[in-house]
Amino acid sequence: MSETVKATFDGKEIEFPVIVGTENEKAIDISKLRSSTGYITFDDGYKNTGACRSKITFIDGEKGILQYRGYPIEEMAEKSTFLETAYLIIFGELPTKAELSHFQELVAKHTPIHYDMRHAFESFPANANPMAILSAMFNMVSCYSPHLLDGDYTPEQLVEASARLLGKTSTIAAYTFKKANGRPFSFSNPKLDYSANFLHMMFTEPYQEYMCDPDVVRAMDLILVLHADHEQNCSTSTVRMVGSSRANLFASVASGVAALWGPLHGGANQAVIKQLLEIHESGQSIDQVMERAKDKNSGFRLMGFGHRVYKNFDPRAKILKKACDKVLASLKTRDPLLDIARALEERALEDEYFIERKLYPNVDFYSGIVMRAIGIPLDMFTVMFAMGRMPGWIANWYELRTDPNSVINRPRQVYEGATKRSYVPVDKR
Ligand code: ACO
Repeated sequence: MSETVKATFDGKEIEFPVIVGTENEKAIDISKLRSSTGYITFDDGYKNTGACRSKITFIDGEKGILQYRGYPIEEMAEKSTFLETAYLIIFGELPTKAELSHFQELVAKHTPIHYDMRHAFESFPANANPMAILSAMFNMVSCYSPHLLDGDYTPEQLVEASARLLGKTSTIAAYTFKKANGRPFSFSNPKLDYSANFLHMMFTEPYQEYMCDPDVVRAMDLILVLHADHEQNCSTSTVRMVGSSRANLFASVASGVAALWGPLHGGANQAVIKQLLEIHESGQSIDQVMERAKDKNSGFRLMGFGHRVYKNFDPRAKILKKACDKVLASLKTRDPLLDIARALEERALEDEYFIERKLYPNVDFYSGIVMRAIGIPLDMFTVMFAMGRMPGWIANWYELRTDPNSVINRPRQVYEGATKRSYVPVDKR
């Protein structure tokens, strides 16, 4: 017999079914709560609320598990590439060799933006926030893809829409960087893999072709793989929320970018570097920084340590740490911030305070360091996050659109404002 949960409302007992997921996650189905009792539930920040059923990503924060479509992140990170991971996340299965090469070709074909779109970059000021440009540009891409605005996609249309978004994100990101620096745009090179091509568009100059270091390309690709999906986080929930009104895919991911822009979501890796800069500029010793981090009254925390969901370790951080070491060795980077980061990491990992509270470096700690070493500017870190998260946004949007039971998302509220009162004309107030 299926499990149920009983609750008593105004003396009346009501039984609610329990939904059990494939990894044995349990949820109380309260979809009939309001109609049968008049009550709604209240859950600030949705910390205990399952907003959808999903087959895309599974996370167990206590055990440090992250799986894309059932495949452990460790295996995907070691053996896969970003485009193969994107294919898996969006379409549900690993591609065959032919499917992958077709997808790669399609992404390469759709990577250049429409020539007219170059002019749009001219109207942004040089110091425009790259996330503002990215979000605006996704809406603009929709204007050049009118045949993909109706979301009832055929399988071929889903492949095309995905290829367009993945490809164009890399071009828009690179052109945003070029625009900010007053440099000419570099055309994409279809012979290069996704991450290599992105770095080429970022750093190739008319007088000098960017030479891709394989360790750097691999680290860039790894960052994208590790960010490809993370179940119902703020930006993905936003994409689903917007998509639930039947808004098109481009508009939905543009709002995902807006949600990711917030410092509480996409800004953590920037915060790591900003804190390292502050430590460097103030001349504090590692001892002083550690003491401040452990002092509850200082209001200071070590950025890039600890995680809301992963309570023992962040599986993505473990993977990225190795790549980070490789990149730094291969680039022979001399950067005082990286020295501080290394020293803090070493000290925190053997400090009782951090060990007791299970505070390990999270993915943002290492991704911030790697991106700085590669030469990605601080204000573009969140754009890299968006580029990585694109497969998750597309997959979640499509899952919602093809769910026959999906309805427009419309939460309720507990009203706490003034009760009914009569209007008073302005001259009598
Ligand atoms: N530095 C020093 N102490 C810390 C840190 C830190 N980075 N993180 C947590 N602690 C301490 C807390 O003071 C608390 O100590 P106490 O038990 O003595 O009171 C204990 O560890 C538990 O901390 P909580 O705040 O309860 O942990 P929570 O799960 O709520 O917070 C969070 C997780 C927000 C990530 C926190 O660890 C933090 O602020 N880290 C720094 C910011 C950061 O790196 N954020 C990015 C996270 S990744 C992401 O969200 C995409």
